[in-house]
Amino acid sequence: MRAKLSSITSTGAPFTTLTTLASLTLFTLFTGASALSLDPVCSATALVTDGLLDYYSGTRYGGTVGMFQPPYYWWHAGEAFGGMIENWFLCQNSTYETLLMDAFIAQTGNNYDYIPENQTMVEGNDDQGIWGLTIMDAVERNFTKPTKDGVPGWLAMSQAVFNTMWARWDTQHCGGGLRWQIFTWNSGYNYKNTISNACLFNLAARLGRYTGNSTYLDVADQVFDWMVSVGYVVLGDTANVFDGANIEDNCTTITTFEWSYNHGVVLGGTAFMYNATNGSSVWEDRVNRILKGATTYFFRDSIMFESACQDTGKCNNDQRTFKAIFSRMLSFTAVLVPSTASTIDPLMQSSAQAAAQSCSGGTDGHTCGLNWQHSGWDGMYGLGEQMSALEVMNYLLVHDRPAPYTAAAGGSSVGDASAGLNSTATNVFANSLNIRGKDKAGAAIVTTVILGTLAGGSIWMLF
Ligand SMILES: *[C@@H]1O[C@H](CO)[C@@H](O)[C@H](O)[C@H]1NC(C)=O
Ligand SMILES: *[C@@H]1O[C@H](CO)[C@@H](O)[C@H](O)[C@H]1NC(C)=O
Ligand SMILES: *[C@@H]1O[C@H](CO)[C@@H](O)[C@H](O)[C@H]1NC(C)=O
Ligand SMILES: *[C@@H]1O[C@H](CO)[C@@H](O)[C@H](O)[C@H]1NC(C)=O
Ligand SMILES: *[C@@H]1O[C@H](CO)[C@@H](O)[C@H](O)[C@H]1NC(C)=O
Ligand SMILES: *[C@@H]1O[C@H](CO)[C@@H](O)[C@H](O)[C@H]1NC(C)=O
Ligand SMILES: *[C@@H]1O[C@H](CO)[C@@H](O)[C@H](O)[C@H]1NC(C)=O
Ligand SMILES: *[C@@H]1O[C@H](CO)[C@@H](O)[C@H](O)[C@H]1NC(C)=O
Repeated sequence: MRAKLSSITSTGAPFTTLTTLASLTLFTLFTGASALSLDPVCSATALVTDGLLDYYSGTRYGGTVGMFQPPYYWWHAGEAFGGMIENWFLCQNSTYETLLMDAFIAQTGNNYDYIPENQTMVEGNDDQGIWGLTIMDAVERNFTKPTKDGVPGWLAMSQAVFNTMWARWDTQHCGGGLRWQIFTWNSGYNYKNTISNACLFNLAARLGRYTGNSTYLDVADQVFDWMVSVGYVVLGDTANVFDGANIEDNCTTITTFEWSYNHGVVLGGTAFMYNATNGSSVWEDRVNRILKGATTYFFRDSIMFESACQDTGKCNNDQRTFKAIFSRMLSFTAVLVPSTASTIDPLMQSSAQAAAQSCSGGTDGHTCGLNWQHSGWDGMYGLGEQMSALEVMNYLLVHDRPAPYTAAAGGSSVGDASAGLNSTATNVFANSLNIRGKDKAGAAIVTTVILGTLAGGSIWMLF
């Protein structure tokens, strides 16, 4: 993941003209409502989704299927589609089923492992991981199976993501862990970031729960233990989840930024582990500690916020999306660890209400803002604002619909335990990727470009 510092407010936003009824719906939707019926929530999320799709290139002439317009990157698409597929399931609304299907297939890559050719020069483990979690969602929500000939099932593709990531597990430094980058030429290759490892943990836990294959649960255990051993996850009563560390000093100097997406993806993984182990007390204890951290660090006055950057107005385009996947993971937690629902429900209900009242801006009258504690729209807009609002509102429906399915109950996706294992990008250590002289020069150019980009704003990830 890499973001430029350029403020989105300086780029022209693609507003569409919509009815004022829309904003009225959002305003009136939550006023004093405790008993929300399904339909009003789904009409609200439909409006928010429309705003989200204002940034989608895939349905425009000359646009790329599965990609959002600049400045949004490939991984942003993976995160946004995660909220949309949840909404497809929760609202039982098939309007965007084809759009999602096309996007998932367009971006899966020749090896069906979410390392598509267009991204190979820049893709990180976290980028692949975020997409992997979305495709796993397709599995657990029994999303319509790929309609294109020869394309494997969503389960096989999730397994390919898992297999290729796990093959990159690096025991040479810091006693284990995934690096941020897949490819040596990318800046950040020496950083082992929490989100890459959290995605692997989360995906392994889910594959284990879904398939009943304990090998995945063993891997999840190992990844979690490693994150604790290096101090990325600190399991106090109010657990911390820090951002990562460099391998130069064996991951001993921890970058202590706390982001809701790191916290959320780790929390979600523990919830799947709890559920997959039929309620183990070890995992229950971990869920509770990490949940207490989540509710303490990322809610203020019972409203979700990105505490590390929101107050200073310095959240970049990546950070502005984090509340989306954080919300999704809180949903899974409340469902898979039923004892947590009484803690999570009220916080998410008040946050959804606050988000809805922030969705009152722009020329369409229902553009969502960043700061949900602000009364009304705060003047901020973008893909992150839309997807975060969508996912926090999705929460209002999670108890009305089935929990994520398993292969034994409700799921039907076709898997392949060895998917992806012979793809070229599986293991850059083992394969050394055969960079010839010509490609090396190309790689250096890319590195320079990326460094230039990084200098603009993604250094927060590194230091
Ligand atoms: C389904 O989604 C579409 C597109 O967002 C929306 O126009 C429609 O109202 C939704 N249907 C329901 C029943 O919510
Ligand atoms: C790859 O990039 C090219 C050039 O921008 C674009 O035309 C093509 O649609 C992209 N393919 C995918 C799968 O993103
Ligand atoms: C590096 O860190 C790992 C995990 O904390 C530890 O097991 C290993 O001994 C350390 N190596 C060195 C050389 O300090
Ligand atoms: C959970 O319970 C199921 C059904 O009783 C059993 O098949 C499975 O082995 C159990 N899993 C674990 C990890 O205990
Ligand atoms: C696992 O999740 C399901 C679905 O919400 C729930 O019914 C079940 O009680 C959970 N298992 C445990 C051990 O809490
Ligand atoms: C999942 O999809 C399959 C194939 O379409 C279908 O047969 C099955 O009934 C679905 N499961 C649920 C729980 O709807
Ligand atoms: C379980 O998963 C592992 C890891 O992918 C795989 O090697 C093994 O074949 C799987 N077992 C079954 C029974 O599918
Ligand atoms: C991977 O290898 C197996 C057999 O070794 C082969 O059948 C399969 O087609 C290969 N897959 C890819 C994507 O190359």
